Amino acid sequence: MKLTLRTSTPEDFETLYEIDQACYEPAIAYSKREFRNYLRFPGAECVIAEENGKAIGFCLTAHQQARGYIITIDVLEKFRRRGVGTALLSEVERRLAAHGVNEIGLETATGNESAIAFWQRHGYRTRGVWKGYYPGGRDAFSMTKPIT
Ligand SMILES: CC(C)(COP(=O)(O)OP(=O)(O)OC[C@H]1O[C@@H](n2cnc3c(N)ncnc32)[C@H](O)[C@@H]1OP(=O)(O)O)[C@@H](O)C(=O)NCCC(=O)NCCS
Repeated sequence: MKLTLRTSTPEDFETLYEIDQACYEPAIAYSKREFRNYLRFPGAECVIAEENGKAIGFCLTAHQQARGYIITIDVLEKFRRRGVGTALLSEVERRLAAHGVNEIGLETATGNESAIAFWQRHGYRTRGVWKGYYPGGRDAFSMTKPIT
């Protein structure tokens, strides 16, 4: 199976939205309006992972000056633990560095053990906790990683 990465286009919106819906429970998944707004953030960029032409994951980032931000990274469940998330993250970190970013931040739910393990494996460290960050009142870890 060949994995390819490419920048998303406006035509990918429904596909990205469906992947996001599949990756998060309804209370946390973005509404279409939220998702559109994130795609319009300053410096927003979305990289899609495809296998045999089918989208199986994506990573949406934004940046302003030297500060980068991972809005979300989503890999469809049946394609996880095969390095797809790692390939997406390497690519977005490379792109953010090329834009002059020297630190990347993100939030992840304190109960999302697989995501926390993923971020730690890739050098992201917890800087604090946002109480009641998610709808429904769940807390989030704020994590950052310096990049060069
Ligand atoms: C987090 C996520 C993107 C990881 O994608 P992935 O393609 O499975 O990640 P990779 O295969 O590249 O994993 C790299 C490493 O991360 C760690 N990791 C990933 N998933 C893990 C899990 N469920 N349990 C423990 N460690 C995990 C491991 O160290 C793994 O390396 P290994 O497989 O050699 O042990 C994926 O689980 C996902 O889409 N989750 C739902 C959406 C989400 O929660 N996104 C993050 C929110 S901020």
